[in-house]
This record gives sequence, structure tokens and C-alpha cells, in this order.
Amino acid sequence: MRIQRVALKENGYDILFARLAAFGGLLRERLAPRGAVAVVSDETVWAAQGTGLAAALDGAGLPYRVCLLPPGEQTKTLDGLQRLYAFFAEAGVRRDGLVVAFGGGVVGDLTGFAAATWMRGVPYVQIPTTLLAQVDSSVGGKTAVDLPQGKNLAGAFYQPALVLLDVETLDTLAPRELRCGMAEVIKYGAIYDAALFDRLRVPPQGAALEDIVAECCRLKANVVAEDERDTGARMLLNFGHTFGHAAETLGGYETYKHGEAVALGMVLAAEAGALLGVTPPGCAAALGEILQANGLESIYPLRPSTLLPVMRLDKKNDGGGLRLVLLRDIGSAFVYPIAEEALTAVLERMDAAWTPV
Ligand code: GLY
Repeated sequence: MRIQRVALKENGYDILFARLAAFGGLLRERLAPRGAVAVVSDETVWAAQGTGLAAALDGAGLPYRVCLLPPGEQTKTLDGLQRLYAFFAEAGVRRDGLVVAFGGGVVGDLTGFAAATWMRGVPYVQIPTTLLAQVDSSVGGKTAVDLPQGKNLAGAFYQPALVLLDVETLDTLAPRELRCGMAEVIKYGAIYDAALFDRLRVPPQGAALEDIVAECCRLKANVVAEDERDTGARMLLNFGHTFGHAAETLGGYETYKHGEAVALGMVLAAEAGALLGVTPPGCAAALGEILQANGLESIYPLRPSTLLPVMRLDKKNDGGGLRLVLLRDIGSAFVYPIAEEALTAVLERMDAAWTPV
């Protein structure tokens, strides 16, 4: 079995690459929960993969209760959180029990935050079933709910006790969701590893996909071990996110899914970096080619400066300006603090080069 350690100073944990059928045995062997086991999933994931997890837990002799949430970002709210607290109370979850998040980023973030705060913290396990969750959100302990004031505004760093990952669960994933995950995979190549970037010219499948997911988990585990609280190196994972979040917000979270917005945001960041003289001019085109090869749009259809009002509200805005993540080249990124006036000037120059698509 392939194992990736997330080597934190305290509460380190493993990512285990195995098949769903083995997950019950692995949970029993690794965590031996004495108290109640509470599984949180969404209706879509459970319809596609629930039988497999249920059989695995039954086979290992682990009794459990399941709470199914409606799929989608609208579940990641204080109402969704309240629903999980009610479920934990009913299921009798205590600190000797276990919470299992079985799904994509929404289920993982919400369940992780519920586990972080229920009885001041109960152990939880991430079983990510989307590519985006497998390569990013299930690893690193970022948990949150959205508030009316903004995405992920209430949350906690709370690490899982274990991540169980089966790439075969991606077989039932909608193609659009798979593409969104590929945007994050391409991001790892762009910021850390030019060879990984080049391997993505052909969309990976089967064993190649498992290798790629494992490589992304290794990169994520390393950066989380170095900067668990996101004050330094981990910020590079935000490449494409400042522009991307703005596109996502302006589109009302419907025009673009998160990964699609990150794809557009990466190209915009590469174009901004070129105008600022820190990114080689060919990087934006190289990103565009790889994104298109993986079925992702790479050209933001509106004038880039339309993103500015939303970018000003970004969490990474420290009052005087923003911290953009820019490329030194494909495979190397850095944080570039930029004053608002300078950012406005760059976006206006990007507007000048903009042609309607
Ligand atoms: N998704 C970015 C991070 O975990 O830091």
C-alpha cells in the first residue's frame, strides 16, 4: 500500500492509498474507535459510492450511522453545521468515537469544522471522493463554513487523524468535477514542478492518475509540514486563487466552479506577472495549452479590470494591497506583495491587450 506521511510537529497523520473495500479494516486497525462512528456524506456521493463504504464498514464489524447532506456549496453553512451537531448528538459521538467525511471539498470542510468544534474536538477521517478533494482539500486540516459575509470565513485548522484515498472513486465523478480537480493538479505543476506540468499534456487516467494524485499529495504534505498555519510557504497554493476567487464571486458561484475559476486565474496571474516583468512571457500560453488539453477554459471572457472590486475584498488583502502568487517560471512561484494602485495599473494594461472572445 502506498502511504504518504503528513509529518507535522504534533498530530501528524498518514494518507493511505487503497481500495474502498479495505477502508473498514484500515479504520479499525489504525484508529480502533471505541465510541460511535458517524459518517457524513452527500446524496450524490452516497448514491454512487455508499454501498462500497457501507460494505467495508460492515465487513470490519464497525457499527456506524450516516448523515446525508444535499450536494453543493449551499450546504457549507451554519445551517449545515447545526444539522451535523444534531446528527452527532443523536449518534452519540464523543471523543472516543470517530467522524468520517466521505465526499468532496464541501463535505470535508464542513465535517472537519463540525468535528473540530463538537465537544471541543473529536477525531475525524477524510475519505475524499473528488479529484479536487484528493489532491488538495482533504489534506492539511483547513476546515470551514461559508458565511453570508464571504466564503470560508468561519473555520479552524484541525487535522484529520487519517486520510483514506481510492482513486477508483473518481470513476463515477462527473467530467466537469474531474476537470476542476485537474486545474488544481496543473497548479501543483506550475508552482512546484515543471516535469509534473509537462506530464499533464495528456490527461492522466488509471494508474497514471493514481501516480499524479500521489505526487500532488506528496507536494501538499511537504508544504503543510513546513507551514501548517499558512503564514509562509503554504500561500503558494493560492496561485490563481486571487484572480480566480474574484471570477468565481462575480459569476455568482454558478458560471464557474472553483477549479474552472482557478484555471482562468492562473493564466491571468501569469499575464500579470509578465507585465510586472517577473514572469517569462511564454508562461501564460504554456498554462493555456495544458488547461485546454484537459478540457478547461483558459481565457477570462471579460475585461480583467472587472475583477478589481472583488479582488480588493480578498482575504489576502492586508489593507495596503494584496499578496499575489506569481510565477518565476513554470515550476517555481513566489509571493509578490502589490499595492492597490499598482494592481489597478496592471489590470488596466491587461485591459488594453484584451480582445472580446
Ligand atoms: N487549499 C489551500 C491550502 O490547503 O492551503
